Amino acid sequence: MTETTRASWGSKLGVMLAAAGSAVGLGNLWRFPFCTAQNGGGSFLVIYLLCSFTIGLTLVFAEAALGMKVKSDPTDAFGWIHPKLKFIGGLCVFTSMIILPYYSLVGGWILAYVVKIFSMSSATDFGTAFSDFAASPVEPLIFFYVYLVGSAVVVYFGIQNGIEKFSKIMMPILFILLLVLTGRVLMLDRAWEGVKFFFRPDFSKLTGETLMNAMGQVFFSVSVGMGIYITYGSYVKDDTVTVSQLMRPVIVLDVLVSLLAGLMIFPAVFSFNVPVNAGPSLIFITLPQIFVSIPFGRFFGFLFFVILLGAAATSSISLFEVAVTFMCDQMKMTRQKAVVGFSAVCLFVGTFVSLSFGKLSGFKIGGKILFDQFDFLASNILLPLGGLLTCIAVGWILKSGRLIVFKNGIMQKGFEICIKWIAPVFIVLILLKGLELI
Ligand code: TRP
Repeated sequence: MTETTRASWGSKLGVMLAAAGSAVGLGNLWRFPFCTAQNGGGSFLVIYLLCSFTIGLTLVFAEAALGMKVKSDPTDAFGWIHPKLKFIGGLCVFTSMIILPYYSLVGGWILAYVVKIFSMSSATDFGTAFSDFAASPVEPLIFFYVYLVGSAVVVYFGIQNGIEKFSKIMMPILFILLLVLTGRVLMLDRAWEGVKFFFRPDFSKLTGETLMNAMGQVFFSVSVGMGIYITYGSYVKDDTVTVSQLMRPVIVLDVLVSLLAGLMIFPAVFSFNVPVNAGPSLIFITLPQIFVSIPFGRFFGFLFFVILLGAAATSSISLFEVAVTFMCDQMKMTRQKAVVGFSAVCLFVGTFVSLSFGKLSGFKIGGKILFDQFDFLASNILLPLGGLLTCIAVGWILKSGRLIVFKNGIMQKGFEICIKWIAPVFIVLILLKGLELI
């Protein structure tokens, strides 16, 4: 596509909020709290912060710089570094095809809970209610279809009229609601216990594994490893704006939302004396249980699920956009056709993923149901692999100095050391850990 016809963002704030929308998602509000709980609270937090501002930041900056330079999809971006590297772009699209169906399935569950929270009472058995719902053959599918088609509509309207407008509305609302809800939770009895747990470092719990988990969390949370910032960066028209101006706020917001999520969830959990490391079921079982038993709790529960829905939606549209940009740039399709085509693929794949909780639960690959297999494949293999290939391509194959992300010489040098040495070494370790080889 030539630069004159290529779509572009309407404003700097628009790109920033769209990119922050991609980063802020279930990773912050759902995965971060239980990961922190399982890894020793405050000490995990310290490592998570360190990793976010070194490796996370480096990869986000590298991706965005590539996109802003090449102004095309990830295939062309890596092809610009070396023609033989085009395949990495294909890998990015493949990863989006794996993540989007199962991420949207969880999005559909959240949509369902926005409605369901009103019909729940303290007499409800929340555990059974959730597993029955997830296993039923029809209900979760309907919510999943509605959620996915909803995200598709935003992408259908394009960069400026769809993604940018949606993010500009959604992100501020999300932030305000999150502050309101955190404020309410901090007023609960014994809320302080939760805050202390969250911030007090317990360095005796600091093991090699904590380090790996923190790294994995950063990867998922800032959305690196599948060309999202290459894709979003490719629509930046304004050549005067620098990578760090656009992307620094993204990392800061991502970390801030994780901190707010911790300040909302730990006090609630401690105040009600429920197990702090309930894991993935925390948001669908433990939290609704808490919400229905506080004054106006259903209203706050509703707010909570609306926040989750908004956060998940801005992340889903970024996953969508990677594939759509690829189909437009490489296959010369119109945006509209690309959106319809990719939605059809995801609806089809997602149907099987949803049924893996019920009718297809007997069908396992490597001992895992389809949903778990998709999550494992994406988070433990494809994303770190995408990140590693990005480091090698930018740090080693591209002549250094051609991808300037900082004006300040010392910062630029730090970026180069990180992308060449620190990030790849850590990623290899996570990859080995994910594959249970170490
Ligand atoms: N970062 C998002 C979250 O925190 C999830 C996400 C969106 C993602 N796009 C991604 C993760 C791409 C990895 C890669 O929920």
